[in-house]
Amino acid sequence: MSAHSLGERLAAGVDTLMDRTVAPGFTRIGPAVRSRLPGWPADPAPDALAGRTAAVTGATSGLGLATAEGFVRLGAAVRLVVRDEEKGARVRQQLQAAVPGAQVTVDRCDVSDLEDVRRFAAELDLDRLDVLVHNAGSMPATRTESPQGHELSMSLHVLGPVLMTELLRPVLTGHDARVIFVTSGGMYGQALRADDPEYLRGEYSPTTSYARSKRAQVELLPVLAERWSSARVGVHATHPGWADTPGVVESLPKFHRLTGPLLRDAAGGADTTVWLAATTPQPRSGELWHDRRSRPTHLLRRTRTSDTERDAMWAWVREQTGLDA
Ligand SMILES: NC(=O)c1ccc[n+]([C@@H]2O[C@H](COP(=O)([O-])OP(=O)(O)OC[C@H]3O[C@@H](n4cnc5c(N)ncnc54)[C@H](OP(=O)(O)O)[C@@H]3O)[C@@H](O)[C@H]2O)c1
Repeated sequence: MSAHSLGERLAAGVDTLMDRTVAPGFTRIGPAVRSRLPGWPADPAPDALAGRTAAVTGATSGLGLATAEGFVRLGAAVRLVVRDEEKGARVRQQLQAAVPGAQVTVDRCDVSDLEDVRRFAAELDLDRLDVLVHNAGSMPATRTESPQGHELSMSLHVLGPVLMTELLRPVLTGHDARVIFVTSGGMYGQALRADDPEYLRGEYSPTTSYARSKRAQVELLPVLAERWSSARVGVHATHPGWADTPGVVESLPKFHRLTGPLLRDAAGGADTTVWLAATTPQPRSGELWHDRRSRPTHLLRRTRTSDTERDAMWAWVREQTGLDA
């Protein structure tokens, strides 16, 4: 065994240990250590996204804003997909001030509202989309329903993104496009609940509801990867670890107070999203990523998913979004 491969094997061991013990890997310590280990995947080339168009949902804040900035810096034309156009316009100005010449457009869409997703897709004036990042997210404090009556986390994190991708398929097809779901390490604690996708049973918990919808994103990865492979569209999920964003301050104030100095900054949380969108060749479709490495989708036996449960969840998603089999 060469010294180099021994170093890389030790590095892989340290990386994996930090991942499985969660806390060190998820904080800012994760990328600080991993990026110094041998074998850390290279940054994309500085012009990796020149000539490409990338859309980011929830680009007004936190990780979405950092992702949009990462894309602009790599030369992409960026579509900020936001529910508040005024905020979107402010972010566009901010990005254009930070990166002179940046091509940034604001598009309105409430991703949790399936009718608004249909309107957005119909109105989008694009011939080609290279990257679509499903980043918009929230953790409703009480059980909330979307305009179509779906539990909001599930609608915002699963139904809206799947429908949006399907409707944008014509502009994503045929050029190695990448679709990226920003999921959450919180899903490690929850099993797929195909039996209760709308959270109708039991007492509502914001963190459980959020984590169940993020689990559903991850469990649908193989299904979506297969469905979109004929269009040559790769699908990836990444969880950012724990990053200091307005969303965390608002939804998890105690967690934020306790962990504050250890949290990653937003750019650190968005790093793997930007990397997945820009690295070449495109990584294998259908996997979960964190800190530029493919990661297991389960850490606990009790969260394991059977094919029957996954099929049931997919059937439910198709039914709610009106997709064919
Ligand atoms: N930060 C972390 O540590 C962490 C950890 C795990 C996963 N994540 C995931 O990372 C993503 C970004 O989170 P963040 O921490 O950056 O949160 P954030 O600061 O609250 O940003 C969330 C973004 O989503 C947008 N959004 C919310 N509901 C929307 C809707 N119905 N339609 C369209 N846009 C909507 C928000 O828009 P407004 O500005 O209009 O509210 C905002 O731009 C989320 O999917 C989250 O689950 C974050």
